[in-house]
Amino acid sequence: MCGIIGYVGRKSAGGILLDGLQRMEYRGYDSAGIAVLDQGTIWPLKRVGKVATLTRAYSENFRHSGTIGIGHTRWATHGGVSEQNAHPHLSNGHRFAIVHNGIVENYEKIKQFLQEHGYVFFSETDTEVLINLIDYHYKKNPAQSFIEAVRKSLRHVEGTYGIAVLSTVYPKELIVARKSSPLLIGIGERENIVASDAAAVARYTKRVIYLNDGEIASVTADNFSISTLDAGAPKAVLHELDWEIRDSELEGYPHYMLKEIFEQPTVLENAMRGRFSEDDCSTKFGGLPITLQDLRSADRILFCACGSAYHACLEGKFWIEKFARIPVDVEYASEFRYRNAPMGQHTIVFVVSQSGETIDTLAALNEAQRRGYRVLAITNTVGSTIARAAEAGIYQHAGVEMGVASTKAFTSQLTVLSMLALLIARTRDMDAIAGQQYVRALRSLPETVKEVLDLSVEMQALAQKYHHYKRFLFLGRQAMYPIALEGALKLKEVAYVDAQAYPTAEMKHGPIALVSEETVCLFIATQRTFWEKTASNIQEVRARGAKVIVIVSDDQIFDERPYDEVVRIPAAHVGIKPILSVIPLQFFAYYTGILLGCDVDRPRNLAKSVTVE
Ligand code: M6R
Repeated sequence: MCGIIGYVGRKSAGGILLDGLQRMEYRGYDSAGIAVLDQGTIWPLKRVGKVATLTRAYSENFRHSGTIGIGHTRWATHGGVSEQNAHPHLSNGHRFAIVHNGIVENYEKIKQFLQEHGYVFFSETDTEVLINLIDYHYKKNPAQSFIEAVRKSLRHVEGTYGIAVLSTVYPKELIVARKSSPLLIGIGERENIVASDAAAVARYTKRVIYLNDGEIASVTADNFSISTLDAGAPKAVLHELDWEIRDSELEGYPHYMLKEIFEQPTVLENAMRGRFSEDDCSTKFGGLPITLQDLRSADRILFCACGSAYHACLEGKFWIEKFARIPVDVEYASEFRYRNAPMGQHTIVFVVSQSGETIDTLAALNEAQRRGYRVLAITNTVGSTIARAAEAGIYQHAGVEMGVASTKAFTSQLTVLSMLALLIARTRDMDAIAGQQYVRALRSLPETVKEVLDLSVEMQALAQKYHHYKRFLFLGRQAMYPIALEGALKLKEVAYVDAQAYPTAEMKHGPIALVSEETVCLFIATQRTFWEKTASNIQEVRARGAKVIVIVSDDQIFDERPYDEVVRIPAAHVGIKPILSVIPLQFFAYYTGILLGCDVDRPRNLAKSVTVE
């Protein structure tokens, strides 16, 4: 939930830390801070609010050009949003400073122990306890190495952490460690950068090493050494980042969300590149170790995910059940991890996570593996914890998604899932001609998405007309129900309005009680099959005074006069139609959020990846 960074090299650390924080701000943004070691003293600078506020304070007041330092963007867990609670935290006596992502669960006990040994605390955070514990262990044996003092302290910690620690006693060295919270070391030329997020280091180096759980590292300008908490010597694996620095820049767009909506044609192209079979009737995924026989004999597929990724999985269920005729369960990862879900002998488990760091999804993965199941991952983040914990998987190749509200990552998940459905279907019931038509539809997706992007202006006008309404109901049947859920989630996230989603016909069984003149009903009705039934449902809400926006396909011909608004998308194969249908809803949420004065890229209370329970 928080972003952490550390720099050690030959350049002034402050600017590099701030640049990294700004690129990671989507991880958490209620306060931010840096600490730089200069002339033997640790100089902290913290501010409540966005990184921009911190950067302003840095330009106005900060005069310390030390070449080693740490930084943090915070999403509050322990203690309210205040400068005192913002990171970095310093130990009593200011020998050590720390930035921390995660939660020290036994901090009360440690705090009491430290208080008995004379330590005093100035914040409400668990992190301040941790840094004083490090100081305590250092003081017990000042001759020991920096890494040893941190290692001893971490052995007493229950909970999760990604940390970077700075010290006046060891002025050329940073110590970093992780447990259930991402951390990587970016290897530069005579400089090294540690961070929780590749976005923070991509500008300086593409060569990174991801720490594993239970690992701790000492990092200097010219070197690094990784060990485990019990002093083992793990093998470090060097990865090459495939992220471009321009991914984390606005490139002329006013917001990342809008930029990422418009990136979708390229993103979907990238998700599909090299993944069609030679005969053009199916798909293939290089990273998937399961054989066609495994797919054919699967008795069940289980998807675990959270948020938008969960909605993508619901769509995957629709496609796989329709085309491949295998029963599919979709579970909220946070629920699956604590329940004993019945599973078949040949169940294949997929976890889906854009960030690859969502703690609930990771826990679901661990639980399924513990029960002996093969777990595959669909993720956008190469080298992420989930990517490394899964047996194998499929990368989305969507590039960094900076907007907290998922758009391009969601449609790339849909694309991968649709391709997966086709692959499984072709091992079972689907004939070559149907496979060929499916592939043709997928290949046409980037161009068709470009046409849908032309709806931007129309959706902006609709947002202008309806943004002041109090309640929004998103309604869709079958393949359009997950899209209704996603449309409602987007509007909630970026415009903070009451938006709910139901299967269209279910609306009569309760939700219709909400419908009044203050309600806007968005019908995602792009399937010809259900049009007559949906038209009746529309009459029911109109009769109760609701405004109606209906999204349909070009091939649905009807008298448009009774509807307030009709939005048309191109007619398309059902394997891609849901992907097209969500784009107008992304625009609607974006423009409504803007008109209501919301920070669409960094909505209140949210963080890009949820790494605490
Ligand atoms: O990184 P993940 O895909 O695991 O994230 C899951 C959800 O937290 C995420 O989709 C969340 O719902 C987004 N804010 C959606 O816009």
